[in-house]
Amino acid sequence: MQEQIDRLKGDTLGRIAAAADAAALDQVRVSALGKKGDITEMMKQLGRLTPDERRTTGQLLNALKDEVTAAIAAREAEFRSAAIDAKLSNERIDMTLPARPDAGGRIHPVSQTIDELTAVFGEMGFTVAEGPDIEGDFYNFTALNIPPEHPARQAHDTFYLPPAADGSTVLLRTHTSPVQIRTMQQVKPPIRIIVPGRTYRCDYDATHSPMFHQVEGLVVDETSHMGHLKGCLIEFCRAFFGIDDLPVRFRPSYFPFTEPSAEVDIGCSRAGGELRIGAGGDWLEILGCGMVHPKVLANCGIDPQRYQGFAFGMGIERIAMLKYGIPDLRTFYESDLRWLRHYGFVPLDVPSMTSGLSQ
Ligand code: DAH
Repeated sequence: MQEQIDRLKGDTLGRIAAAADAAALDQVRVSALGKKGDITEMMKQLGRLTPDERRTTGQLLNALKDEVTAAIAAREAEFRSAAIDAKLSNERIDMTLPARPDAGGRIHPVSQTIDELTAVFGEMGFTVAEGPDIEGDFYNFTALNIPPEHPARQAHDTFYLPPAADGSTVLLRTHTSPVQIRTMQQVKPPIRIIVPGRTYRCDYDATHSPMFHQVEGLVVDETSHMGHLKGCLIEFCRAFFGIDDLPVRFRPSYFPFTEPSAEVDIGCSRAGGELRIGAGGDWLEILGCGMVHPKVLANCGIDPQRYQGFAFGMGIERIAMLKYGIPDLRTFYESDLRWLRHYGFVPLDVPSMTSGLSQ
């Protein structure tokens, strides 16, 4: 009996050691310890032995059973840690590898243009402010010195929403200028912000979309004057379009929220029917600006005797179309991947004044 048990032990432990995987190991377990397994069968025979034999053989069989069980558990643990090792080495990422040169995705020209102008104005000390797309007419018009019945309200082709619970007028903002008001109400001068964001007007053709983007600029302090406004915007135009000698001119204009007001043109050429930005004898309007109207400052609780400043606003799609030669505004919103692959930007080329804006 002893001999048989020793043989069985050697054999079973050998098969456990040789099991190549968890399935093979389980087969060994069943053949040794299962209902009809070798060790189980031998235990069934114990009843036929004399009480003395039964005790010694029983002890031997129990010890064998424990040893085999422990050997199976140990082998199982080996398989588990081998599986974890394999997973770890399979899933290992080499953090020292350079970023993938082209992941396939593209940054939309509107996002790119916002990043670029944020880089330029950021360098000049402006921070980015935001406001809600859904506005009250106080912020969108009244506080900006556009009174009820003022023709500018009609000119803005406003989308009106059902009135608020208190009966006040609610609309989709027609420009980013209401964020001037919100900022001046909340922050004490000096203020130096740009406000990129969505705007809405009921208009649709090759150069107008019911939703488009603007960027607003606002500077309020005790010393800024028209010379700063001009310097700031000339500098911006040249940096944004990447043309050091880009001609920039200021034409008198009218906005209810600025006095004096101006429109800014940049130089271009239209020779041969092709539009090119740069010195070329022709002009292209790109933005509106002016010194913040004293009434607007007063509407926000800022003393116009002490403070003054300048503001400007421009269409983001418009300057993107000019810079990147995109002919039709409507294509910006069609989500056409071919268009995005053509006009989009590589995500890793983050624009900055040191690494450069895309040209
Ligand atoms: N809000 C004007 C518009 O939507 C743009 C504008 C012009 C903004 C002059 C300004 C400004 O801040 O000073 O057409």
